[in-house]
Amino acid sequence: MTEKSFILKPNTHTLENGSVTWSSPSNIALVKYWGKKQHQIPENPSISFTLDNCKTITNLTYASKDSRSGFSFDVFLDGEQKDSFKSKIETFFKRIEQYVPFLKDYHFIIKTSNTFPHSSGIASSASGMSALALCLMSIEKELSEDISEEFFKQKASFLARLGSGSACRSVEGDLIVWGSHKAIVGSSDLFGVKYPYNVHQNFKNYQDTILLVDKGEKQVSSTVGHNLMHNHPFATRRFEQAHKNMSQLMNVFENGDLDAFVNIVESEALTLHAMMMTSLPYFILMKPNTLEIINKIWSYRNTNNSKVCFTLDAGANVHVLYPENEKDSVLEFIKNELVVYCQNGQYICDQIGFGAKQLIDE
Ligand code: DP6
Repeated sequence: MTEKSFILKPNTHTLENGSVTWSSPSNIALVKYWGKKQHQIPENPSISFTLDNCKTITNLTYASKDSRSGFSFDVFLDGEQKDSFKSKIETFFKRIEQYVPFLKDYHFIIKTSNTFPHSSGIASSASGMSALALCLMSIEKELSEDISEEFFKQKASFLARLGSGSACRSVEGDLIVWGSHKAIVGSSDLFGVKYPYNVHQNFKNYQDTILLVDKGEKQVSSTVGHNLMHNHPFATRRFEQAHKNMSQLMNVFENGDLDAFVNIVESEALTLHAMMMTSLPYFILMKPNTLEIINKIWSYRNTNNSKVCFTLDAGANVHVLYPENEKDSVLEFIKNELVVYCQNGQYICDQIGFGAKQLIDE
């Protein structure tokens, strides 16, 4: 597939107005995407667990209008008009217009809500952009002749990527690869694909408890962060390392070696932060409590022969990952020893999920 394959053919049907709703989850990367080229092309392949409970629900209503008036839309978050979201969506529309040329033919009302608290420090761009991309694909489906399910998902992921890179990994589950890797057949820089090989039972229903350490505004936006990888002194080696970690994870998914899993995942998280600490300008996005939690996880793992581990996004919150068979014990450990480091004691229990779903409009 190339970019050209996603250019919409002339419409076969017409559509005056309508409404569509999608629910799309967040995802957590195991091998991180950090650094991109023009047009949202990643510098290295990444792989993520799709989440189940943390999601965005977006309802898109559309009514036809004169296309000469340009893009026209209103955005609401939890029922409140959110003009601050408009510029991000306008940028998204501009980037995808050549692939969905009907954008200017409608006035859109975008009503969105998240299942996780806003200002939780959890990025809603992956779930939000994928939900919006899926709504647009539902319109495309109405306007066109035959669209296969596979093409629908691929193009939704392709569009979502143009909104926010990691969003392309939220359309499906449970394990999604984005970025071309020589050993993963079908992997592409343009969209996310389901990991195509056997995955060991150990990873079934893998748990992710998100500890909200710092709910403040992001210190550095991901776009600024990605750009700091241009001319970064360690960039080339980092991108090579990501390819290698992907290859190693493939063995881990095959043989279920959780000790090796822990090593790769934690090393990826710390490397992401190391890249931020060694860029110019430099950032420390962990907080003292992030480190307290990491140390507690390490000591719990050693004393209990546990396979619990952590990963991080570009912020201070900690994702605690563990196999289903440790669910009760690790949750007990989190409540007893880690919740004290969370802002207002807040955390979110989640687990591996299977991707976005269309909801039936009332
Ligand atoms: C650290 O997908 O938010 O979460 O493409 O600029 O929107 P943009 O970036 P974004 O970057 C996410 C980076 C990360 C790692 C990851 O999810 O792979």
